This record gives sequence, C-alpha cells and structure tokens, in this order.
Amino acid sequence: MIDARITKVIQEIPKVTTLFFDTDLGAKPGQFGMFWLPGEGQRPMSFSYGNAITVKNVGPFSAKLSALRPGDMISIEGPYGNSFDISGSSVVLIGGGFGIAPLRFVAQECYKENIAITSLLGFKSLEDVFFEKELSKYGDVYIATEDGSCGEKGMITCLFNTVKHEFDKGYCCGPERMMAAAMEHFGKHMPLQLSLERYMKCGMGLCGSCEVDGLLVCKDGPVFYQEQLGPSFGKFKRDKTGRKIPI
Ligand SMILES: Cc1cc2nc3c(=O)[nH]c(=O)nc-3n(C[C@H](O)[C@H](O)[C@H](O)COP(=O)(O)OP(=O)(O)OC[C@H]3O[C@@H](n4cnc5c(N)ncnc54)[C@H](O)[C@@H]3O)c2cc1C
Ligand code: FES
Repeated sequence: MIDARITKVIQEIPKVTTLFFDTDLGAKPGQFGMFWLPGEGQRPMSFSYGNAITVKNVGPFSAKLSALRPGDMISIEGPYGNSFDISGSSVVLIGGGFGIAPLRFVAQECYKENIAITSLLGFKSLEDVFFEKELSKYGDVYIATEDGSCGEKGMITCLFNTVKHEFDKGYCCGPERMMAAAMEHFGKHMPLQLSLERYMKCGMGLCGSCEVDGLLVCKDGPVFYQEQLGPSFGKFKRDKTGRKIPI
C-alpha cells in the first residue's frame, strides 16, 4: 500500500471530482486502484489520469473521497487488473456516466500513438456532462442526453448510427445495459473492449465477490473483449452479500 498526497482537486460538476495525487503508480488505461480511507474501508476506482481518479459522489465512501483537499493523504493499493489494448489507427470510445473517467485516460494514450479518436458520450442531462472538453482535445465528441438539454435527445444508442463503422476497435465503459447495447451494435463490426464493474472486496482475486460467469473482474478484467463475456453480462450482478440480482 502506498500513501499519496492530494496535490490538486478539480470539481468537474457538482457531484464529480477529480483528485490528483503526488505519486504516479504506473497505471495503464483501464486499470484500477483500491483506495482506502480510515474508518470507511476501501473501494476500487479507475485511473482517469496516470496520477488521478475521478469520483462520483453516490454514497458514504465516495462522499468522503470527494471531500479530500490538497495536502490530504490517501492510501492506494495497485494498480490492479488488466488494461485496454491501445492499438489501431481509428477507434471509437463509448461511455456513459462515471464510465467516462477511464475513457479519458484511454483517449490520452491513443492520442500519443496518433490514433484517431471519436467519443460517444451519454448522460441524463446537461448538468451531468463532464470531460466533454477533455475528450475534445483528442478528437470528435458526440453527446446524447436523455432530456435533450445537451446534444442529441435520447439514450446514447441514438448516436450509434451517426458514426460509420470504420473503426479498428472500440472501447466501452458505463452502465452495463448501455454496454450490452454497444456490443450488439458495434461488436459485429469491430473488436470491442468493455470495462465491467462488480462489487469488489479484495481487488486481487482472493475473495470471489467479483465473479461473473467464471471470470474474476478484478483479476481477469476489468477489461474484457466481447467474446469473453458470458450470459450474465448486461443481465445479472451480485450484491454485497454475493446474492445474484438483476441489473
Ligand atoms: C473496477 C471498478 C472501477 C471503479 N471506478 C470508479 C471510478 O472511477 N469512479 C467512481 O466514482 N466510482 C468507481 N467505481 C465504483 C466505486 O468503487 C464505488 O462503488 C462507488 O464509489 C460507491 O461507493 P460508496 O460507498 O460511496 O456508495 P455505496 O453505499 O456503495 O453506494 C451508494 C449507492 O450508489 C449506487 N452506486 C454505487 N456506485 C455507483 C456509481 N459509480 N454511480 C452511480 N451509482 C452508484 C449503489 O448502487 C448504491 O445504491 C468503480 C468500481 C469498480 C468495480
Ligand atoms: S474482488 Fe476479491 S476476487 Fe475480485
């Protein structure tokens, strides 16, 4: 475990905060760290930069994490898990909600490799939109919001037909039903890598809480090619007690 100091905090939107720390753990896009706070336990967070995470405040742990300020300390284990395979000459990024956080890191690394990037982003409403400017630095960005307050009106799927399928590969992260729809649409035309979120206790392949169709998301993933995924994808996950529940 490494103790890192927070160096900079960016409030992306009211409930989404990017925390930079003074240590680059050598993470690759798609990998995550286990972030530990005294009295709160630990949670997995994907790296949005080599030395930063982007947190959505949705509960007790993420609220405490979001409240950290420059100078505060945080304990990190990792980086854990595998990463997106950055290659090709033209790629599409498909992201929804806080799934856009790791895709920012993917875009940065693709850009370094001179890979053309198109981003398709889905949000509920204008006030949920973040990383739009960040991703615009690296390529074309298309946005859909459910209420039409920014970009196209509708779910992210309404953007799928606005781009041609001439990409070498796709990278996808976000709500699992959205990823299942992306797999259905783009998976036929190109290799697609999808980052899964499951309840994680240890983050290192020991407890089995992140198991999905025989795969451990923390160790075999969190990034999978579409053909690796089994029947639970987009349909079931496990709760904190290990019970299988519909997505
Ligand atoms: C591999 C991996 C990478 C992750 N990367 C990130 C990341 O980059 N940024 C990030 O903010 N979180 C990320 N998470 C989720 C994170 O680990 C926590 O689950 C999340 O912060 C909620 O923890 P909590 O204790 O604050 O809330 P909890 O009490 O665990 O959850 C509060 C409520 O919010 C819901 N909820 C949980 N997580 C989310 C979410 N992310 N969005 C919307 N609703 C949610 C729960 O279903 C519950 O109803 C990642 C999870 C995994 C497995
Ligand atoms: S979180 Fe323990 S095995 Fe994956």
